Amino acid sequence: MAHSVRDLRAALIPWREAGDTVAYVPTMGALHRGHITLITKAKKMARRVVASVFVNPMQFAPNEDLARYPRQLEKDRDMLAEAGCDLVYAPTVEEMYPPHFETTIDPGKLATVLEGVYRPTHFRGVATVVIKLLLQILPDAALFGEKDYQQLLIVRQIVRDLNIPIHIIGVPIVRDPDGLALSSRNTYLSAEDRQRALMLPKTLQDTRDAVLAGRDIGIALADGMANLAAAGFSMDYLELADATTLVPIRKFEAPARLLAAGFIGSTRLIDNLAVQ
Ligand code: PAF
Repeated sequence: MAHSVRDLRAALIPWREAGDTVAYVPTMGALHRGHITLITKAKKMARRVVASVFVNPMQFAPNEDLARYPRQLEKDRDMLAEAGCDLVYAPTVEEMYPPHFETTIDPGKLATVLEGVYRPTHFRGVATVVIKLLLQILPDAALFGEKDYQQLLIVRQIVRDLNIPIHIIGVPIVRDPDGLALSSRNTYLSAEDRQRALMLPKTLQDTRDAVLAGRDIGIALADGMANLAAAGFSMDYLELADATTLVPIRKFEAPARLLAAGFIGSTRLIDNLAVQ
């Protein structure tokens, strides 16, 4: 396991010299099957796989769950090793943000909608840490889960805009058999809240079906919001948007994406679904 840029680069040098390809999976730890799917996919794409475990303070607002975000580095390391990950990079906060750190990445328009409305500083933090990690590791490819769909689009945009020569690969959401999208934050849910949370994937499916059946999009979204509220959700948004620009759409045209975020108790859940 490497904890500093220096150790990370020392570990990467022999692989580069041997001409090995490298795939990279960024995580904040508290790993679940969704992360392991990313590692398995990375393993199929490249000779070497690097995963990072770093709970990035810059992407949490002061009122968010940075302090209680689950941390289990040893367990994560074992899970990653078992999945075939060759190197775990777990930098300290001081390594990533040393004194006098100043530079941040402004991800532009895509970061101002949906999540960006409710978490206005979040994507600046995500963009800054992801670009730092990509430049520290310089992999051939990096894999991101579609669970954070807006994040994936933003990373793609930045990598394209800044001519960073790394392939960004999106990997479909992994769900529990009952439909709930896997998330490290699911561990916050009581058994009762977890049950109520199932209304989120169900509503996405119902809304998608309604839109594909030709129902008025505004009405389908309003019905979805009402069902989620009835299940106990305090919703931030349920929106149908263009799958590339995230501009809301009211006249259906594929490819589109349904995206939702809301609270069950104090736990904020997000989810999304392709509509095509
Ligand atoms: O998706 C996440 O877990 C995080 O946002 C990421 C990409 C690791 C950056 O901290």
